[in-house]
Amino acid sequence: MWDLWLERAKPLVPVIVINSPLEAVPLAQALVDGGVRLLEVTLRTQHGLGAIEAIRQAVPEAIVGVGTVTSAQQMESALKKGAQFVVSPGSSDDLFACAREWGGPFLPGVATASEVMRAREAGFRYQKFFPATAAGGIPMLNAFSGPFSDVRFCPTGGIGQSNHHEFLALKNVFAVGGSWLTPVDAVSAQNWQAITSLAIAG
Ligand code: 3PG
Repeated sequence: MWDLWLERAKPLVPVIVINSPLEAVPLAQALVDGGVRLLEVTLRTQHGLGAIEAIRQAVPEAIVGVGTVTSAQQMESALKKGAQFVVSPGSSDDLFACAREWGGPFLPGVATASEVMRAREAGFRYQKFFPATAAGGIPMLNAFSGPFSDVRFCPTGGIGQSNHHEFLALKNVFAVGGSWLTPVDAVSAQNWQAITSLAIAG
């Protein structure tokens, strides 16, 4: 699914925190207008689930995922709202089971070789490398490429405008994620043009 999506979307996954329900649709539209279509709407606020539903309805060009998923119950709730992919900062047996039953794109979070192996054993070869810079950054991803040549990563955590190209250049990286595309000051000021400019620059 990722390869299909990435044919028509930039390999950037903004990690979105919705602080007001009114922000969701214009923010998503601003990102899409800049060519950023893979949107990870986190469950870090009470507005996350509603935002997923609203964006699915109002911004058809967006590919809407749910992030910061730490329980199977959260995954199920987000899928009911129309989430098209699911991202977790980590993994658990419950999450693996729920994702397998669903059968859609699930990115478990990994930071160590054992976690990569566990997620791969569970059937997930696309993984979120988190927290990317704190967990070893580019040298760690290069080290993973030897033993885990069949696993591809979306690094997030500490990635921004200045270093995301270096991560994207790695052959085991299929996309990069982070909050730099949705700065809090621009979102709270409803400066959608600034968000679109960041998306275009990305
Ligand atoms: C995530 O959940 O992926 C991270 O919180 C994003 O990290 P960043 O704010 O450093 O981009």
